[in-house]
Amino acid sequence: MASATIDTSALRHNLRQVRARAQGSRVMAVVKANAYGHGLVPVARALARADAFAVARVEEGLALRRAGIEQPIVLLEGVFDAEQREAAAAFRFDLVVHTAEQIELLRAAAPASFKVWLKIDTGMNRLGFDPADVVAARAALAALAGVRGPVHSFTHLAGADEPAHGATAAQLACFDAATRGLPGERSLANSAALLNVPTALADWVRPGLLLYGASPLRGAVGADHGLRPAMTLRSQVIAVKRIAPGARVGYGGAWVASRPTTLAIAAIGYGDGYPRSVSGDAAVLLRGRRLPLAGRVSMDMLAIDATDLDPAVRVGESVVLWGPELPVETVAAAAGAIPYELLCGISQRVAVEGR
Ligand SMILES: Cc1ncc(COP(=O)(O)O)c(C=O)c1O
Repeated sequence: MASATIDTSALRHNLRQVRARAQGSRVMAVVKANAYGHGLVPVARALARADAFAVARVEEGLALRRAGIEQPIVLLEGVFDAEQREAAAAFRFDLVVHTAEQIELLRAAAPASFKVWLKIDTGMNRLGFDPADVVAARAALAALAGVRGPVHSFTHLAGADEPAHGATAAQLACFDAATRGLPGERSLANSAALLNVPTALADWVRPGLLLYGASPLRGAVGADHGLRPAMTLRSQVIAVKRIAPGARVGYGGAWVASRPTTLAIAAIGYGDGYPRSVSGDAAVLLRGRRLPLAGRVSMDMLAIDATDLDPAVRVGESVVLWGPELPVETVAAAAGAIPYELLCGISQRVAVEGR
């Protein structure tokens, strides 16, 4: 019943907006986690003008190749065993290499199998080589027959979404010092850096969220950056109820009617990926009008206070949970979450359809 409609023209629009901001840098479209819930293969097809795609898992790359996607595909975390290495070689994936173990694994790769991005940990302390080890790691990689062309340089910024975050300048300086004068391409910028850190654009930018039309910046929405939300999440009213003042609604009876109330029960809940943690000020759209939720979100349903709708709400009416008229960023804020979580959190039960 719940469905997510993906506006493929919005995806293409957002890619054009990203290109305009990228100032000539090539665009590696990040489509991991089922393209942030939007559908991996349909999104890659819609973004056919991207210069490359980036995924987190080998299986995601395989799904793209099997669907006939021909652009370079970068495995953001690389490969972890011989089977993955062989699959990556057979399907022409580019690799991020971030550990000494991964360099060892590449010793057995067939000649010229891989374009390699060496990931440098410039301060996020998640993945990557210590800057002091970059020269040795590059030399080790350059000596391997399995590595094709120069070794390329890659890092990830921890705080680009906060313009005043001191870490960004330190990370940029660290990356610059670790890679100065070295051959190969460079890539640092995620969506937030595309918006906030023009000095990080380098050879390749790696946007995810912006392509889907949402903003990584707190308090902002995609439209503020000229973007169009690609996903509309919808469901239907499956029951209408009239309750008296004082009646309690939902688990724990946490919501109490303060007036004669008309409830619309919509068939969507946390089992579909709508966040249970939304606070009282969360809203949905019914007939284009923002209406508040009543009580806790259940697994399969939620209740809407539809008292003010005239004519009265009816079974079968469509409810929008987020979309261009109700930004996912707003829903995420009401849930104490970030838009990434909500988009990626769409469950298997939700039919994702392009248009
Ligand atoms: C290494 C790397 N680059 C780029 C991105 C894209 O991030 P965003 O969606 O914020 O643009 C991600 C996503 O988490 C990532 O892990």
